[in-house]
Amino acid sequence: MVEWVVELFGKGHERAAFACGKPPLDDFIHSRVNQYEKRRLGKTFVAVPKGGKRVLGYYTLAAGAVAFAQVPPDASRKLPKHPIPVVLLARLAVDQSAQGMRLGEGLLLDALKRALDLSKGLGVYAVEVDAIDDQAAAFYRKYGFTPLLDAPLHLYLPISTAEDVLA
Ligand SMILES: CC(C)(COP(=O)(O)OP(=O)(O)OC[C@H]1O[C@@H](n2cnc3c(N)ncnc32)[C@H](O)[C@@H]1OP(=O)(O)O)[C@@H](O)C(=O)NCCC(=O)NCCS
Repeated sequence: MVEWVVELFGKGHERAAFACGKPPLDDFIHSRVNQYEKRRLGKTFVAVPKGGKRVLGYYTLAAGAVAFAQVPPDASRKLPKHPIPVVLLARLAVDQSAQGMRLGEGLLLDALKRALDLSKGLGVYAVEVDAIDDQAAAFYRKYGFTPLLDAPLHLYLPISTAEDVLA
């Protein structure tokens, strides 16, 4: 098992061979990540082997908002009727060579920790994710994400629950 660390994406990271099995997620890290960085549309964090540069996995965060009407009633009855501020976990993927070794879990927990840290200086009610398919949704549900009301793959995790998951 390779020891890995999470770093902010930079130009020196080797990502041409990255393949997670989902073409849109591969395409992002191969071809689009630099534009997202340049235009400040998302910040990407990569897992690399300790002392190395080859990308084994990554996630991307952006600011987001969820419509009040999409929040399930048990949560929304305690919320104001306006868009709810969230951190959007826009992408998360692990290279096929490293899948099944708890790197996905490590990246998810790192993303939740980062969202929790952000919530100390900015209103963040939850972390939002648009799972790419049912399998990805099953992965997120394991960690407590539940569906919003508009689509079964549109999930959220209140930041207070993230705090419990990380404890
Ligand atoms: C989904 C993905 C991120 C999981 O990463 P991983 O490193 O293979 O998973 P881990 O080894 O960290 O697994 C942690 C736990 O999640 C479970 N798990 C992993 N993939 C799962 C899936 N698709 N559905 C349900 N559970 C899953 C594991 O069985 C493990 O459970 P355990 O605690 O009971 O042992 C990875 O397989 C991947 O990149 N897939 C392709 C891209 C993708 O679907 N990304 C989702 C973002 S939209």
